[in-house]
Amino acid sequence: MNKEKKSYGLLEGKNGIVFGPLDSSSIGWRIAQATYREGAQIAISNVPIAQRVGTIDKLSEECGNAPLILCDASNFNELVEGFNKVKSSIGKIDFIIHSIGMSQNIRKGVEYEDVNYDWYMRTLDVSGVSLHKIISAALKTETINDGGSIVSLTYIASTRNFWTYADMGDAKSLLESITRSYGPRLARRGIRINTVSQSPTYTKAGSGISDFDIMYDFANLTSPLGNATADDCADYVVTLVSDFTRKVTMQVLYNDGGYSSVGLTIPALRVFQKAIANKHLLKDVNFNDFYPPEYRENDPLDLDGKNERKS
Ligand SMILES: NC(=O)c1ccc[n+]([C@@H]2O[C@H](COP(=O)([O-])OP(=O)(O)OC[C@H]3O[C@@H](n4cnc5c(N)ncnc54)[C@H](O)[C@@H]3O)[C@@H](O)[C@H]2O)c1
Repeated sequence: MNKEKKSYGLLEGKNGIVFGPLDSSSIGWRIAQATYREGAQIAISNVPIAQRVGTIDKLSEECGNAPLILCDASNFNELVEGFNKVKSSIGKIDFIIHSIGMSQNIRKGVEYEDVNYDWYMRTLDVSGVSLHKIISAALKTETINDGGSIVSLTYIASTRNFWTYADMGDAKSLLESITRSYGPRLARRGIRINTVSQSPTYTKAGSGISDFDIMYDFANLTSPLGNATADDCADYVVTLVSDFTRKVTMQVLYNDGGYSSVGLTIPALRVFQKAIANKHLLKDVNFNDFYPPEYRENDPLDLDGKNERKS
């Protein structure tokens, strides 16, 4: 636990549930710690197996013996049972955090055009539709208070292509769309809903993406403020479930060091300049494999040394 961090008491008197902490690297884990630090009483939820493969008992202890609600967030009936347990343990809640994501296709390194469709549907269900199910179960069991706040985690691959993010990009588009679709319906009770688009972060789910190290470094070098950590994300989420953001709803909010607004940075330009002058390197990385035939024929990178390049 980040004990040295000061509490501002921003969530005093609030109750909430955090879905998705697994181990101390999880973004959900850091969010649970931060909301508890700020004075909230919380419950923690994950699938039953997380108790064996993760360390959630420790997190529960750290967070005032937070009740553990073990259920599959893609199973509506289990969620209903889970929310009933929440009510009987900590009472009605003011916020819900959805920090859940999973793709078997990514885990197994399957290319997008070769996805296993059963896994694909599971990705959409667990990583996207589960947000809908969680909200619906919270409403039907009357667990969430008026004026509450719901926050999920997303990634910029929902609107821009990231080659190795495969079917998770589709799941994140769905998650963001559910955020907008639910917005006005929840607003009738003063409940807001937002999703935080986070920098690449070393976690179990994150590190499963092929070439994650390179994605991380690329984003870190491109973002004017550098990548946001899981703790940065947790602090931001605290504000979104606090009383200081009462009119913020239906938004995709970037917590990414500015990455989403950058076109080209001077450091990246310099690296690219040097790389493009290095014919051996260009040949090694098979640049041309990713462009159409006529593009390759024109040899725009002048790999054969025949084109005149403007200096
Ligand atoms: N790590 C990153 O680079 C990054 C970047 C942007 C957004 N995110 C998002 O942050 C969220 C949290 O992921 P993380 O990176 O902390 O990884 P993580 O692996 O620590 O957390 C993912 C959690 O989802 C849980 N989960 C999987 N299937 C479930 C199910 N059926 N029911 C309930 N829970 C289930 C897992 O047990 C795990 O605890 C995800 O939505 C992820 O897409 C991550």
